Amino acid sequence: MQPTSSPSQNQAPADLNSQLEALAARVNELLEKGDRPAAREACEAMFALNGAYNQAHMLMARVMMPGDNYAAILSRLHRHLKPVGYAEIGVATGASMALAEADTHCVGIDPCPRVTATIAARARLYPVTSDDFFARYKLFEELGAERLDLAFIDGLHLFEQALRDFINLEKYSHPGTVVMIHDCYPPTELSAARDRVMAYWAGDVWRMIPLLVKYRPDLNVGVIPSLPSGLGMVTGLDASSTVLEERFEEIVAEFMALEYHELETRRDELLPPLSNDWDTICERLPG
Ligand SMILES: C[S@@+](CC[C@H](N)C(=O)[O-])C[C@H]1O[C@@H](n2cnc3c(N)ncnc32)[C@H](O)[C@@H]1O
Repeated sequence: MQPTSSPSQNQAPADLNSQLEALAARVNELLEKGDRPAAREACEAMFALNGAYNQAHMLMARVMMPGDNYAAILSRLHRHLKPVGYAEIGVATGASMALAEADTHCVGIDPCPRVTATIAARARLYPVTSDDFFARYKLFEELGAERLDLAFIDGLHLFEQALRDFINLEKYSHPGTVVMIHDCYPPTELSAARDRVMAYWAGDVWRMIPLLVKYRPDLNVGVIPSLPSGLGMVTGLDASSTVLEERFEEIVAEFMALEYHELETRRDELLPPLSNDWDTICERLPG
């Protein structure tokens, strides 16, 4: 069911809610049937009724990101890479940290952790911002290992912070280190806003991808369209590279000027897609 006209300003909230709920049910049905184009249209109809309806943005994410979710991919990465050292920026409940294997040395960084998950790995949690962590500590000392094989950037959802996080982690990298960056594939403009307006929020971390493609052509950079908001994957790191740090202000200004609507016409160019299947992901991993 799709609305045939714009909603009246006098439309009762109950009517509006029931239309939104009916459309949400329709999107779910269409996704079950695998009809993504029609599901997308039904999402657009929801946006026309209420542009900030959280569920519509989450459903659009499901339309655009078939396949495994980020946790399934991270879990496979842990099992495949068997990282000696793992660093996670943004721990929250510990759900992603709990994916690490028991003998992995882990450092988790989060100024407001609220861990409820059972973390099997040898984890140490630092209740500070990532900037504070890297200013105060040496990652290898805190890991208790001289090797960072895997890192997950999932802290503050602003791209200049994600860039600082990447710069800080890369200093501890080796050529086989894999860095995953959450929230690099926002499905809608509102979900990509720098200020959070809905529960579903990716922020503008996506800018990291075109930025790395341009300023670090030596890296392998791709985005796995995995729910809920995409995973950037970076390999081929170089601990001696200084270009991002030296040109930080200029790079941030350049990529702040990149408008979200560019993604609507140039998504695959700006966010080079990596197919969400394990074989494709594996091909990018260090041998
Ligand atoms: C999306 S949650 C992380 C979810 C977790 N990685 C998972 O997948 O289960 C983001 C977390 O980043 C934390 N955060 C916010 N600003 C941060 C910063 N500057 N440095 C590190 N973590 C930060 C928040 O406190 C929040 O818990």
